[in-house]
Amino acid sequence: MSEAAISEKPFWLSGNFAPTYDEVTETKLNVTGSIPPELNGRYLRNGANPQTGESAHWFLGNGMIHGVELNNGKANWYRNRYVRTPLLTDAGADPLGAALDDRSKSLANTHIISHAGKILALEEGHWPFELSSDLETVGAYNYDGKLETGMTAHPKICPETGELLFFAYGMTPPYLTYHRASANGELVQSEQIEVKGATMMHDFNITRNHVIFMDLPLVWNFENAANAGLPIQWSDEYGARLGVMPRNGSNKDVVWYDIDPCYVYHPVNAYEDGDDIVIDVCRLAHSMKPGVKDVPPVLHRWTIHQNTGKVSESQIDDRAVDFPRVPDAIVGLKHRYGYTAEFGSGLPTAVAFRKYDMQSGTSEAHQLQNGRVGGEPVFVPADGASAEDDGYLLSFVYDPAENKSELVIIDASNVASDPVARVHLPTRVPAGFHGSWVADPA
Ligand SMILES: [Fe+2]
Repeated sequence: MSEAAISEKPFWLSGNFAPTYDEVTETKLNVTGSIPPELNGRYLRNGANPQTGESAHWFLGNGMIHGVELNNGKANWYRNRYVRTPLLTDAGADPLGAALDDRSKSLANTHIISHAGKILALEEGHWPFELSSDLETVGAYNYDGKLETGMTAHPKICPETGELLFFAYGMTPPYLTYHRASANGELVQSEQIEVKGATMMHDFNITRNHVIFMDLPLVWNFENAANAGLPIQWSDEYGARLGVMPRNGSNKDVVWYDIDPCYVYHPVNAYEDGDDIVIDVCRLAHSMKPGVKDVPPVLHRWTIHQNTGKVSESQIDDRAVDFPRVPDAIVGLKHRYGYTAEFGSGLPTAVAFRKYDMQSGTSEAHQLQNGRVGGEPVFVPADGASAEDDGYLLSFVYDPAENKSELVIIDASNVASDPVARVHLPTRVPAGFHGSWVADPA
């Protein structure tokens, strides 16, 4: 093996994907521009940050939260903290070994949300981990022992009822379980849903009356675990379906709709349009096919025609985009705009933030210059917003010239313009996954 080959690391351990090890607290932060004084709260973002410096796959590092608190036009602090789960304490533990059977052994590395007054760091095979408002770990959170499965990293908070709707998949039966927690954080419903096998079901959808499961052909296969560190493979046999269920329904109420095989990590949003259900998704034609390079995700629209039992599919754009977001206030309701990270280099990191206008069929982008790269754009509404895009996009952007990152705040109604503010951080924030704006209580 040549020296170059020996030193060559996979992308998730290289460049700004590489982990950082210091836990930093900094209260003196320089700002370029003006932080809108209406932004009072914290932008928090999770990502995989393997404490040993090694991991077999991008998805398998220990969770680290990076956060910035904003208050009345000032940036109060930046801090980053590991989520202190048993997999952090036991650095040698195999996240795909015995940890799979112990719901507390989470990597807690994928998303961070706030619901019913609790901040929860999420992964998709285990219980959430509760954090304090200054990012210290409180511990595993399982709804007073009622949650018998893990929790997806992509639960949905209904903006109308305040409920948290979520699911968990299992590598052994039950392969799929649906859960509903009330606005005050009580687990009120758990239903086993029949599917054919153990798939990596990463995300799902809600509408005003329904949830929609995405039963797609990435199948767990521990006997043939050769696929880049994750024992998951594309299956030509499994098929692909969408399962529509009333939000308080059960397995007998699920109506399944066949679709063309594909994979979707992240839908943009879903909503009801008469008898139809519209879902915009970042769709991969295939993924994790043995010996076949993944294709990039591109924006598609599925329309589920409940009265005919058919799903129509149309491609919206051919650019590579993922990490889509809509305002929290319209999750499950009709959206006009979707905000995405546009990939430009073959890596899952944003060279631009692209805003799609589903009404006009157009898009515009905030291009990052000079090798700067960002991540998922999180939408935060302006005070008293009336238009859907009256607000801001927040994301960490890494500047390779400085080897440091910034929190950028972009006017969502004018994304192509310069950021309204850039909060300069004392260190770099590695490329990560998902985040949330946790507003101060009104
Ligand atoms: Fe995700």
